[in-house]
Amino acid sequence: MSQYRAIRGMVDVLPDETPLWQMLEQTARDVLAAHGYAEIRTPIVESTELFARSIGEVTDIVEKEMYSFPDRNDESLSLRPEGTASTVRAAVQHNLVQSPQRVWYMGPMFRYERPQKGRQRQFHQLGVETFGVAGPEQDAELLLMCRQWWTRLGINDVLTLELNTIGSPEARASYKAALTEYLRDHFDSLDEDSQRRLDTNPLRILDSKSTSTQSILDGAPSMADYLDEESKSHHERLCQLLDMAGLAYTINPRLVRGLDYYNKTVFEWTTDQLGAQATVCGGGRYDMMVNQFGGKATPASGFAAGLERLVLLMQTLNLDAASNPDLYIVSSNENAFGQAMLEADRIRAEFPGLGVVQHLGGGSFKSQFKRADKSGAAWAMVFGDEEMVSGKVTLKPLRANEEQMTLSREELDTFLSQLEQLTNEY
Ligand code: HAM
Repeated sequence: MSQYRAIRGMVDVLPDETPLWQMLEQTARDVLAAHGYAEIRTPIVESTELFARSIGEVTDIVEKEMYSFPDRNDESLSLRPEGTASTVRAAVQHNLVQSPQRVWYMGPMFRYERPQKGRQRQFHQLGVETFGVAGPEQDAELLLMCRQWWTRLGINDVLTLELNTIGSPEARASYKAALTEYLRDHFDSLDEDSQRRLDTNPLRILDSKSTSTQSILDGAPSMADYLDEESKSHHERLCQLLDMAGLAYTINPRLVRGLDYYNKTVFEWTTDQLGAQATVCGGGRYDMMVNQFGGKATPASGFAAGLERLVLLMQTLNLDAASNPDLYIVSSNENAFGQAMLEADRIRAEFPGLGVVQHLGGGSFKSQFKRADKSGAAWAMVFGDEEMVSGKVTLKPLRANEEQMTLSREELDTFLSQLEQLTNEY
């Protein structure tokens, strides 16, 4: 019989990788809590129309990447390709947008893209959305919060912030017209993808990777000349706040993002360490969406980070998060095993900061010690025939250059309490 395999582009995260994931997630939770953000959890499935209307009918995501299907009632549903639309839907539905809100979510998203390193069909985002603050100080807070997270992860030095403003919808419409007119004159020299986009989504051409298209763009009208005054001053104040905070950024006038709902601020955090899938986080302002979804006009701003790309980046930089047990318990026979099991249970209850793994499945001391070593534990705790007689336990160091010790239960507790303290400090 042939073996089942995971669906293409959908990836198992195996036990040796989960410590890094958990570290990443816990660090995010800590940073978010420290900034007053609360978690929101929305369903993974929503109506297809919700995504089509907000992300945009002629974006790659909606045109060709959504996992859409009719349910038994013939309503078109989709697996969420991102979290912003669902969050806005929930915020409007439950009247959360009456007062300013700061929320976050973490979980799987689905896009039918061509899988490659850093690009999957099921991937995970940590997303943050804020409602009710129109000024650039909200955008600045989001970016400073990202920096806090990057710093705690140890990746701040390899990330670059690219920033742009795409103005009001009206400003963008007149820029779009000017850009389309210019590019139409150069139609034959554009790459195929850009030729197709000229009629559907011309602003996305600014993002083209083709060098010939990019050189045509060098002579194109510039977004900056079409911006409305309000967007310009919003952008200037944001830059000023970032300067004050010493947060370096690069203005990228061609940054437009792949989703249609943005206005004013857009940004991406990129790295040169991951090859083609270089963007680890992207976001911006989307002041029209709440109103578009039937809520009272409410300014909004947010971002989402791709967790797979952050994991890859940390692995590239050898920032692995080991989670080794403190104690690995071995025992010489059935009787000793029973005693050891009770002792392990007691230690876990009294020293909850310690990781305690008991050897299961018997075997010689030699083979048990081999497993103890492989577990990465700091100490092996031995329940042998001698220990059964004396009522003491032996602790054998597996990593550090320490002495082997045989301790009474009282001495053991003193030792374990010191070990727990050390573990917590670390
Ligand atoms: P996005 O740029 O489409 O924005 O996705 C955000 C991040 O998710 C990307 O920068 C990337 O790291 C990761 N990502 C996207 N697609 C994939 C994939 N196929 N495989 C692996 N990682 C991927 C949004 O989704 C917006 N909702 C962000 C936002 C929130 N804007 C405002 N609020």
